[in-house]
Amino acid sequence: MLEKLNEIYKKALVDIEECNGIEGLQNVRNTYLSKKSELMSFMSHMKDLVGEERIKFGQVINSIKDDITNKIETKRKDLEEKRLQEQLEKEVIDFTLPSVEVAKGSKHPFQLIVDEVNKIFIGMGYDVAEGPEVELDLFNFELLNVPKDHPARDMQDSFFIDDTHVMRSQTSPIQAHVMQSKNGVGPIKIIAPGKVYRRDDDATHSHQFGQIEGLVIDKDVSLANLLSTLELFSRKMFGEKRQVRMRSSYFPFTEPSIEADISCFECGGKGCRLCKGTGWIELLGGGMVHPHVLEMNGFDPKEYQGFAFGIGIDRTAMLKYGIDDIRKLYANDKRFLKQFNTK
Ligand code: DAH
Repeated sequence: MLEKLNEIYKKALVDIEECNGIEGLQNVRNTYLSKKSELMSFMSHMKDLVGEERIKFGQVINSIKDDITNKIETKRKDLEEKRLQEQLEKEVIDFTLPSVEVAKGSKHPFQLIVDEVNKIFIGMGYDVAEGPEVELDLFNFELLNVPKDHPARDMQDSFFIDDTHVMRSQTSPIQAHVMQSKNGVGPIKIIAPGKVYRRDDDATHSHQFGQIEGLVIDKDVSLANLLSTLELFSRKMFGEKRQVRMRSSYFPFTEPSIEADISCFECGGKGCRLCKGTGWIELLGGGMVHPHVLEMNGFDPKEYQGFAFGIGIDRTAMLKYGIDDIRKLYANDKRFLKQFNTK
């Protein structure tokens, strides 16, 4: 039997040696190592042997098996290496071909404005807050002094989802969320950028646009603080020489309410096309937080005052970059969007 084994072993070595393809090598492996192979069938003879003889026979078979396995593996590596080498010799790679250009993104002008406004206010010690885009009527209107059937609802023709939920029409509800989270204890100093939704669609109004809300609540806060805050912001955003003026206005959640204009950064106030000859550009709405709004959201108006303001993100982008149609901000035309990549 040992002789027969030796014969198989020698034949296997020759077959491995002569094999010159990976597929052929797989056949060699099947011939000598599969369960049905002649070599493996010798295993069944083990049961007829006893003692020393059985041990010796087992050792021989195993060492033959291991040796064939190792030699097949070595051969496989050789063949693979050879195949790669041949492929490399045949293939021609032209390193002078230009590579495919990787498309680089750029920040959307909307986001550029948000980043810049955030940076300016963070520099003044403000935190950045957020709120949900699907909002409760309660927060979008009622807690801001706009009860059901209040005529001010007409100014913000809104997308209602059901009787109680609305796509927020302004970022002002974030004021109510932040105030309620403070349990009547100030100070608060936040800005809150976000998308808002209204039933509008023309060159200066889109059904989706962005606002940045500002809210400061503390003891001894006055309209003068709002004016100086807006002046500082305008100078950082639109240039050192900017002046800010306030006009009285109306918002349900502020008393008094103001609208703020900045001196035109195009003509410096002399009058031009951008400012329609007035020398001033409308910037935002704001005012002193209405005592009833403070109260509804857990703050004692005898102890605390606050100011608030709302800046239009798209409007700011249009002014700053000279964009003539708000819809361009939402058309996803890369040729347009690429122009604002400032860095
Ligand atoms: N939410 C107002 C709007 O959409 C803008 C605004 C006005 C926000 C006055 C304020 C504010 O915080 O005090 O038109």
